[in-house]
Amino acid sequence: MSDIFDGVDPILIAKKWLKEAEITEINDANAMALASVDQEGCPNVRMVLLKEIESNAFIFYTNYNSVKANEIVKSGNAAMVIHWKSLRRQVRVRGKIEKTTSDQANQYFVSRSLNSRYGAIASDQSKPLDSREILLRRVNEVAEQEGQNPKRPENWGGFKIIPFEIELWADGEDRLHDRFRYIFKSEEKKWSKQRLYP
Ligand SMILES: Cc1cc2nc3c(=O)[nH]c(=O)nc-3n(C[C@H](O)[C@H](O)[C@H](O)COP(=O)(O)O)c2cc1C
Repeated sequence: MSDIFDGVDPILIAKKWLKEAEITEINDANAMALASVDQEGCPNVRMVLLKEIESNAFIFYTNYNSVKANEIVKSGNAAMVIHWKSLRRQVRVRGKIEKTTSDQANQYFVSRSLNSRYGAIASDQSKPLDSREILLRRVNEVAEQEGQNPKRPENWGGFKIIPFEIELWADGEDRLHDRFRYIFKSEEKKWSKQRLYP
């Protein structure tokens, strides 16, 4: 059996695990919990979809005026976790936050279905909404105004989580799980690896 922890770069290992999970999970293998903190230091968490893994970053897309966006921009940090029930594995990430470039956000925006693009434009994410009808009306208005080629709104785009710490976890017999914590050593541009008690 190949070693699932094989390799020195935890981002590459996480990418490999996600590929496996895309086969074994029922749906949304890329669903991750994204944690932020508010101004009082109180944690906040919600699911988002992990859309890309780059050599140094985990990327998701959202509304830049949403609660999550405000909180992670303010603190400059975020944490995320993915758990794959089918694989019994977990990836935890803590990192710094950067916005994607507009080019990258545009590229992803046009890859979305037309209706998702209308929705992204119409939704004042995280703001109070009096009824579902109001939202549907707004989506129809956007569809009429924007036609077949809607422009990405400036307040919608991607965030990169640039990890300084990653933990890879795999279920073990009798709860004797395997846990490895990786810390990025920026001077050497290398990851250090430490096994942890489960
Ligand atoms: C499986 C799943 C995937 C989601 N993916 C996203 C996403 O990629 N981007 C996003 O903005 N919201 C996504 N959401 C909605 C968020 O969980 C959340 O409700 C929304 O972004 C508002 O969060 P906020 O008010 O904390 O900013 C997803 C929800 C679920 C359950």
